[in-house]
Amino acid sequence: MSDTKIKITNLKKAFGRKVVLDGVDLDIRKGESLVVIGGSGTGKSVLIKCIQGILVPDAGSIKIDGNEVVGVTEEQKEAMHSKMGMLFQGGALFDSLSVWENVAFGLIENQKMPKKEAKLAAVNVLRQVGLAPDVADLSPSELSGGMQKRVGLARAIATKPEIIFFDEPTTGLDPIMSDVINDLIIESVKGLGATALTITHDMASARKIADRIAMLYKGKIIWQGTVKEMDKTDNPYVCQFIHGSSKGPIKVEV
Ligand SMILES: Nc1ncnc2c1ncn2[C@@H]1O[C@H](COP(=O)(O)OP(=O)(O)O)[C@@H](O)[C@H]1O
Ligand SMILES: [Mg+2]
Repeated sequence: MSDTKIKITNLKKAFGRKVVLDGVDLDIRKGESLVVIGGSGTGKSVLIKCIQGILVPDAGSIKIDGNEVVGVTEEQKEAMHSKMGMLFQGGALFDSLSVWENVAFGLIENQKMPKKEAKLAAVNVLRQVGLAPDVADLSPSELSGGMQKRVGLARAIATKPEIIFFDEPTTGLDPIMSDVINDLIIESVKGLGATALTITHDMASARKIADRIAMLYKGKIIWQGTVKEMDKTDNPYVCQFIHGSSKGPIKVEV
């Protein structure tokens, strides 16, 4: 039990009549890198937002370090957020802030670190993700997509979070840049000893960064296991997804 960092039980979330999560059960162990795979619109981002308390689930339980987080007060949520880092799907950097200010955002706003110290810390983290100190004063809009991802990653790890969420970390990147980002994710997560939850439909990325993979389909986790187990499974949903085939039990809704 003490081995579990995040425990999700019977999690449900609908928007109007549209049921998105329909009883998700998932345990994420301390220090593990779990990747949730699933098609577009299957509710992967909704799952992360429920764990972060950005969306309120209709039913079910989410425990972090054994403590229920569904239905907690705003104050308790803030304390919870200080343990978390997040790399957003589109990078989601603030264009009105410089690169270093983006990276140092959590240090200044949440940890109340003095600006000078925060800038030094930000430059250090930027170096960890392979960016030179002179990038610190640029605007995010001056950077390439790959560099923006690095800055997003730097921001996610700057506060040394216990839990890091990666939402489609390689979307929009070419295969080589994707691999560079995957390597940086592995390094950063291991370096912090953090627990990582990644959601993606990029199987190359999933294979690389996952200790364990879980597949979300029709609102439920229908399969989970290691990459090795995934390659041996005869689960028709998993097989169809990992081979990217139009033929199989998964019907694409248009
Ligand atoms: N705030 C919201 N209001 C209404 N519908 C939403 C909201 N957020 C997500 N959805 C719907 O939930 C479904 C799953 O979305 P999402 O979790 O973003 O999918 P993905 O697996 O691609 O990340 C989609 O059909 C989406 O339209
Ligand atoms: Mg998504």
